[in-house]
Amino acid sequence: MAKPKTFLCSACGASFSKWSGQCDACGDWNTISEERPLSAGPASKTLGAKRGSAITLTDLSTEETPPPRTLSGLDELDRVLGGGLVPSSAVLVGGDPGIGKSTLLLQAAAKFAQAGLRTLYVSGEEASAQVQMRAQRLGLAEAPVKLAAETNLRDILTTLDAERPQLVIIDSIQTMWADNVESAPGSVSQVRAAAHELTSFAKRRGVSVVLVGHVTKDGQIAGPRVVEHMVDTVLYFEGERGHQFRILRAVKNRFGPADEIGVFEMTGMGLAEVTNPSALFLSERGQPSPGSVVFAGIEGTRPVLVELQALVAPSPHSQPRRTVVGWDGGRLAMILAVLEARCGIPFAGLDVYLNVAGGLKISEPAADLAVAAALLSAREDAALPADTVVFGEISLSGALRPAPQTENRLKEAQKLGFTAAIAPSGGKTGTVSGLALTQATDLTGFVGEVFGA
Ligand code: TYD
Ligand code: MG
Repeated sequence: MAKPKTFLCSACGASFSKWSGQCDACGDWNTISEERPLSAGPASKTLGAKRGSAITLTDLSTEETPPPRTLSGLDELDRVLGGGLVPSSAVLVGGDPGIGKSTLLLQAAAKFAQAGLRTLYVSGEEASAQVQMRAQRLGLAEAPVKLAAETNLRDILTTLDAERPQLVIIDSIQTMWADNVESAPGSVSQVRAAAHELTSFAKRRGVSVVLVGHVTKDGQIAGPRVVEHMVDTVLYFEGERGHQFRILRAVKNRFGPADEIGVFEMTGMGLAEVTNPSALFLSERGQPSPGSVVFAGIEGTRPVLVELQALVAPSPHSQPRRTVVGWDGGRLAMILAVLEARCGIPFAGLDVYLNVAGGLKISEPAADLAVAAALLSAREDAALPADTVVFGEISLSGALRPAPQTENRLKEAQKLGFTAAIAPSGGKTGTVSGLALTQATDLTGFVGEVFGA
């Protein structure tokens, strides 16, 4: 009898007995394709199988401290990892093709090797000679990193067994294939099987493993989302095409804060660390112009200043445009609605464009007030003073809420030469951290204060 067919969703990994256009489990469209399942193992037995062992929590000796994390010396990477690489951890690094993942990980491999970790870099996309050439170009030819060009999982596990590395980098998970899975490399079942084998091997043997994953057009790591659940840390490497800045962002981290970012610049000699991202994000800023506002944000544990740019223009369309780069479109719609409902400032019939300069993506609600300021400044064609930063969250009622870490934001702004801030500060007025603070308690008050309306 023919084997029953299996269909898997590439977004969530759910399996179905027949194809459909939409996944019932996660609701995504066009993600279901036919897959051959893992070949059956030995006749399954539940009782009588090898006995596992359980320990009580108190059995864990308190004297045995966990092995220390390893610092690569690339501060931007170490911080995003939560303070260095944790032994036996599994890390997934996702990003668009060509964004610089292989470059970043080759540089990281060299640094970790120089810091004393036995490091193996497995490339499934390039031959060892190509990786060597790249290493030479990056000035890393002397680093004690072992290279392997393999895609068969069995070969890789055998290599790992022989080489006994402490850190292995798999570039990329989509090129790996297990010979007990019948579908093609890159398919859902292959990616899932390879990720599972590699992460469980890593946990068993105390090896740290870094998996490189390509992302699809809509920004998700190609392959089932279950891979993200298998690893301890998920990092995204992102950047705008045409910009040399690259941002490494922790979206999940069992060993440190999520949302931490590391900033790099792609140069002719590989990736260089950017230790002062605020200066970089503001470096392209010209004269104060309508629609431009500097937002004092917090990314992870670090304050970062960025410029928000808005353009508001009469719309020739019956349905005016709302275009956002680097921020959430839904949140923009909310700010526009609050401005209209609470302050009586309509945006109907106007196209609205909002851009976060430098290719950064921000997700903090504290950007609300800066966005509102940029929109109003563009609409009224009135520039805000160039030496002012803005931040604060806006609620649906039009009230303003103080943002966390106000002091840190103000300190960073002062360091970069700003002299004034507009923010709901929770009671503080006057000069705070060296900046003249304009208090605002609600949006109407803010509009009156800043735009005299
Ligand atoms: P790569 O690391 O191969 O990207 P990924 O692994 O994410 O697909 O990076 C490729 C791009 O980086 C390529 O467009 C060239 C550029 N690059 C530099 O600008 N400078 C360099 O020193 C290196 C190695 C690459
Ligand atoms: Mg690559």
